[in-house]
Amino acid sequence: MAFKPVIPEGQLDAFIKKLELQALETSEERLPLYKKVGLKNTHLVLDVGCGSGFVTRDIARLTKAIIVAIDGSAYLLDVARKILDHCINTTICKGDAQKLPFTDNTFDLITCNLLLMWADDPQTVVNEMARVCKHKGKILASLEPDYGGKIHWPENRKVDALFAGEAIRKKGGDPHIGRKLRTLFINAGLETTIGIGNNRIWSCEEDKKYYLHSRDFYIKILREAGLSETEIDQWEYEFLRSLDEGVQLNFFPQFYAIGIKPKA
Ligand SMILES: C[S@@+](CC[C@H](N)C(=O)[O-])C[C@H]1O[C@@H](n2cnc3c(N)ncnc32)[C@H](O)[C@@H]1O
Repeated sequence: MAFKPVIPEGQLDAFIKKLELQALETSEERLPLYKKVGLKNTHLVLDVGCGSGFVTRDIARLTKAIIVAIDGSAYLLDVARKILDHCINTTICKGDAQKLPFTDNTFDLITCNLLLMWADDPQTVVNEMARVCKHKGKILASLEPDYGGKIHWPENRKVDALFAGEAIRKKGGDPHIGRKLRTLFINAGLETTIGIGNNRIWSCEEDKKYYLHSRDFYIKILREAGLSETEIDQWEYEFLRSLDEGVQLNFFPQFYAIGIKPKA
């Protein structure tokens, strides 16, 4: 089931801004992948799980192809309609990635970004993408993380465990989707290449900037996990101090998969 984020009244603009920043911060990993799969020379592209449309907008700007963007959340699609308003080569539709409303062998390229981690049944999603992809067409799944490979120092065992996947699992996601990508793509009958998108370690300044604009999200997770306000204050003090001292290190791998649908 597609998720529906609950945004308190009056905070929609801030939420949209956050999604836009998120897309900006991941563009350095994603944009080379669009080149790799030959986006520029395609005619018909499907972006599955487009959400608020910021990533779709990046894709639309890089090609003259028609981009069909699909998502299960009517709420996020309302945001996407605004974001994609000026992209004349995009069209939006509501639908389930596990039952794509398209005929077999339709699209030259199918993209999805950070979708499989949240899909109820990621194998069915990949099978569906393979079905609607043309023979010799490509499927790109980008930014699928694996929290099991997360490295963070200095450590705080209680909090690190939460951010190393527990919080994702509680929200219904699969924090270990990265390691499963190859299996999912091979099972769907695709000629598969797997890679890691983010091989650069962010500086403490970049990590701090990211933390500060995502602070509400972090604090909410800690509160939901039952930490007291004192524990949260103490954690945040130490977390920010190690960033200001320039000693903190954060990394967690984001995998991608490229699948080619074999000839008929
Ligand atoms: C983390 S968001 C990523 C959105 C966008 N691709 C991006 O990178 O900004 C995951 C998206 O997948 C959608 N989604 C999850 N399961 C879905 C399904 N079965 N059918 C359609 N959309 C789904 C959610 O509604 C959400 O918009």
